Amino acid sequence: MENLFANDLAALRARSLDRHLREITDAKGPEVEIGGRRLINFSSNDYLGLANDPRLREAATSAIDEFGVGAGASRLITGNLSPHVRLERALAEWKRTEAALCFSSGYAAALGTIPALMGKDDVILLDKLCHASLIDGAKLSGAVLRVFPHNHVGKLESHLEWARREHSGRRILIITESVFSMDGDRAPLHELVELKKRFGALLILDEAHAVGVIGPNGRGLAAEEDVNADVEVQMGTLSKALGASGGYICGSRTLIEWLINRARSFIYSTAPPPAVAAAALAAVDFLSSAEGEERRLLLWDRIKLMRELFGQLDVERWTLGVGCLNVANQRSTLNAQRSKSSDSGSAIFPWIVGGEQAALSLAAGLQDDGFLVPAIRYPTVAKGAARLRIAVTAAHEEDQIRALCQAIGRHSL
Ligand SMILES: Cc1ncc(COP(=O)(O)O)c(C=O)c1O
Repeated sequence: MENLFANDLAALRARSLDRHLREITDAKGPEVEIGGRRLINFSSNDYLGLANDPRLREAATSAIDEFGVGAGASRLITGNLSPHVRLERALAEWKRTEAALCFSSGYAAALGTIPALMGKDDVILLDKLCHASLIDGAKLSGAVLRVFPHNHVGKLESHLEWARREHSGRRILIITESVFSMDGDRAPLHELVELKKRFGALLILDEAHAVGVIGPNGRGLAAEEDVNADVEVQMGTLSKALGASGGYICGSRTLIEWLINRARSFIYSTAPPPAVAAAALAAVDFLSSAEGEERRLLLWDRIKLMRELFGQLDVERWTLGVGCLNVANQRSTLNAQRSKSSDSGSAIFPWIVGGEQAALSLAAGLQDDGFLVPAIRYPTVAKGAARLRIAVTAAHEEDQIRALCQAIGRHSL
């Protein structure tokens, strides 16, 4: 048994696909300390710099004073503490839906929600670049699963025609993300909504990388594109721009009541710590305020700067030089980031390198220069599409972004 895993690990290592944990000994704002060295972190999803915000810290400590550390039981037994209830009320109000339900993580939200909505003989149509939590939730449901090429509305339409023909009378669910986590591009939401209405399908939109970043008061892409009422299941996480931890589903009161009765990752798991719910509530309150909106606009200033400097680097030419398999995707993402107006794109900038070893070497080179941008490899992304995923936050100084781009320029020569 020991040997079996040792051999498997060696095989991973031989393909440059082995992963290791690195200990971060200090993390405040965009700087972290690893092995006694301070690095500027360009890989965090704390897009608004809220994870260390005094408002969130204070909310968490007062909740500990009032309710203790652990919730002690699942929400349906005795774990339904006031911070959870207040957070869900605030989330529903912020997202302009009837109700909301929180889970211990975004991953748990997907794993509980999708199987609660879909069963055998129902049909799930999933974008090829969807996050692992959505794929795993879809598989767990036992529904018939079809994957459509990334953002390919035409293919989705033909899948919908097939599903209506071959599985008539069954539920059809489209699953996609507002902002794709490893590519940073957006879903064509208006077209998806038009299709789902035409075919009577349901839509789950995972706004994990959009909330806090996109839309009025950071309410996400559905709010920005004014299609809130057409997205039945609005999923998100409290662990990225909201600086806390946990996942949520926003939607109708009936949907939420159904999930309370059927979502196994909600029912059979201890409620999240009340301090975390209180911190997330402070984040929602902040986003809803004028100061929160200012912070979001500051993030967009940083995104625009990064877009401009990254665009000048011509990493596409370099990418072609090393024979990356995913050049077309890289190009379309870069073009989307460059050409669209200030309110499009996202805080995520993929530098698609291709080879796994090449990505690891570049990450090591950037770390020597004082930047933390870990390599993202298979199976998180497709084989041969390894990349450095750069995430810009409102906490970065302009000079830090300039310095990163200069370093990328040196390494891509
Ligand atoms: C698109 C997407 N959905 C869901 C999740 C899961 O969220 P969480 O980290 O809260 O489990 C993530 C993050 O890892 C993600 O990127």
